[in-house]
Amino acid sequence: MKVAIIGCGGIANAAHIPAYMKNPEAEIVYFCDIIPERAEEAVEKYGCGKAVVDYKEVLADPEIEAVSVCTPNNVHASIAMDALRAGKNVLCEKPAARTYAEALEMQKVQHETGKILNIGVVNRFNNAVNLIKDYIDSGKLGEVYHVYISFRAHRSIPGLGGAFTTKAIAGGGALIDWGVHFLDIAMYCCGDPKPLTVSGEQFCKLGKNMEDYAYINMWSGPPKYDGTYDVDDSVTGLIRTDGPVFTVHGAWAQNINQSEMYIDFMGDKAGIRLIYGEDFTVYTAEHGALVEYKPKYNSTPHFENEINKFIECIKTGEKLPSHIDSVIITAKMMQAFYDSAEAHREIVLD
Ligand SMILES: NC(=O)c1ccc[n+]([C@@H]2O[C@H](COP(=O)([O-])OP(=O)(O)OC[C@H]3O[C@@H](n4cnc5c(N)ncnc54)[C@H](O)[C@@H]3O)[C@@H](O)[C@H]2O)c1
Repeated sequence: MKVAIIGCGGIANAAHIPAYMKNPEAEIVYFCDIIPERAEEAVEKYGCGKAVVDYKEVLADPEIEAVSVCTPNNVHASIAMDALRAGKNVLCEKPAARTYAEALEMQKVQHETGKILNIGVVNRFNNAVNLIKDYIDSGKLGEVYHVYISFRAHRSIPGLGGAFTTKAIAGGGALIDWGVHFLDIAMYCCGDPKPLTVSGEQFCKLGKNMEDYAYINMWSGPPKYDGTYDVDDSVTGLIRTDGPVFTVHGAWAQNINQSEMYIDFMGDKAGIRLIYGEDFTVYTAEHGALVEYKPKYNSTPHFENEINKFIECIKTGEKLPSHIDSVIITAKMMQAFYDSAEAHREIVLD
């Protein structure tokens, strides 16, 4: 299957390209980036494909069946919709888009074209996450009444002044960039409860005066001190659903001791703490004793699982859990969170 990579930056090189290279069914035919050197470097590094700067050239090639959209968030919607209309199947990185309205447009075009539109909610292909979902589905935790979401880092603002910290490009900060994964895991594991109300607050504090921001390492750096910093570097909020309540505590940077990246699923029979990107522990009580255990399971790389399933579903037509129809609800919740923060009041969802 002939595929193309649109946007040859961090995530393309760290995850998408190596996963396609490992898949015996896939052949990367184009590397596209508006920075020509990035596309050319990829051709050289991976020893395949053609470097192009305009994604429309990729879409004009009838042999291309699938594209990975690995660009900044501001062009997710336009590129994904153009690709769908050109008859391509699309794996678009998370978040689906900058706003709920953009994500709805993408979903509409997916429905019109019938081509696949999956979003890069890669945790849905993570063995630990799927095991937790099985535990919850099978009733092992009892009633899960509260999900405590913490994605708080001590100092981890990405590319200060660049695409990630510019609202017009990214759509938001810590919530849309990291929170999207955490909310997605919570929704997926809890069987996609219906969100009812959202109350959120956002703060733009530690990176606001860019020159004063102290840090050791910066991903997606270096900083551009003449750039823009107008996004949330910290959020807190509460989401009521027709299932559990989600409490959300997130930050790219906070004056805390160390990073706190986990989700607590609290059930009346047992609870689980998932350390993000790692393993999980089950906490319960048996015969009057307190018990905790860490399940051992077979773990396979989730980005590879995601790409392999994407290639496979194009052939089989299987609707994956990362389909836009399953993921759009998170875009709705994040939009409500930001709207609530702006209005300083609770938003009631329809
Ligand atoms: N799934 C994950 O865990 C994960 C991790 C990191 C990033 N991401 C997502 O991946 C996306 C990209 O992030 P990144 O860290 O790779 O950013 P990046 O800046 O490293 O790379 C983006 C690349 O896209 C290129 N680009 C911009 N506009 C383009 C266009 N119109 N056509 C072609 N190329 C274009 C840029 O020149 C750049 O090389 C973001 O949406 C981000 O949220 C997801």
